[in-house]
Amino acid sequence: MIFETHAHYDDEQFHDDSEDVLLDLPKKGITPVINVGASIESTKTSLALAEKYDFIYAAVGVHPSDIDGLNEESFMWLSEQTKHKKAVAVGEIGLDYYWEKEGSVQEQQRYWFQRQLELAKSVKLPVIIHSRDAAEDTLKVMREAHAEEIPGVIHCYSYSPELAQEFVKMGYYIGVGGVVTFKNAKKLVRTVEELPMEKILLETDCPYMAPEPFRGTRNDSRNIPYIIAKIAEIKGLSPEEVEETARQNAFALFHQVAVGSDSAKI
Ligand code: NI
Repeated sequence: MIFETHAHYDDEQFHDDSEDVLLDLPKKGITPVINVGASIESTKTSLALAEKYDFIYAAVGVHPSDIDGLNEESFMWLSEQTKHKKAVAVGEIGLDYYWEKEGSVQEQQRYWFQRQLELAKSVKLPVIIHSRDAAEDTLKVMREAHAEEIPGVIHCYSYSPELAQEFVKMGYYIGVGGVVTFKNAKKLVRTVEELPMEKILLETDCPYMAPEPFRGTRNDSRNIPYIIAKIAEIKGLSPEEVEETARQNAFALFHQVAVGSDSAKI
């Protein structure tokens, strides 16, 4: 059974067939699934999916590229959503300097990252962190917020193996998805090589980041076995060991996901 820790089934790319795809997941051994909010709107749609499907849980949060939707009022609303019984994490939150080069907007990103970290700490939920081209500032904001007291994952990890150790020292997991199968993924392959399996989570970030041999197509959680196979090859483990250890890691981090939620019952 595969625990999918990062999906966006409310994305418009699933507009026509999300029901078909979702109902097929438990049949393919993929359950539970965390659908991750990235804006105020997708926090709503993630919670709606979690209400509709037993095996889906929601992360509530605003992605650095969507912070223009945040103000005190919407932040208050977001804070309320953390009380939803199927809200199991605050995310995805963080910094993205790849898409945002403007210094004043980057400063806003740091501000709302910090606020959402504090929110997670106050409601005792783990965080799902998105960080791109912003390694140094991500660590800085996390250290200032005492992120070692907030469990979490660095999702779609893209930095060096050395930096991964810094996050691990703070107690963080490293999210590994389709990128690990790409031919140019040397850095991530080294990271996976050096990390203990006990610190790795499986994720797709679907509909994005389809693994080889489907790179560039719409991704969904049924492709996770390709990611598992690659990690197993890198680490000299069996696919079953990778799948099971990552599953235990995910249940340990997302402690509000009910063990036994692997039933396909709706
Ligand atoms: Ni995502």
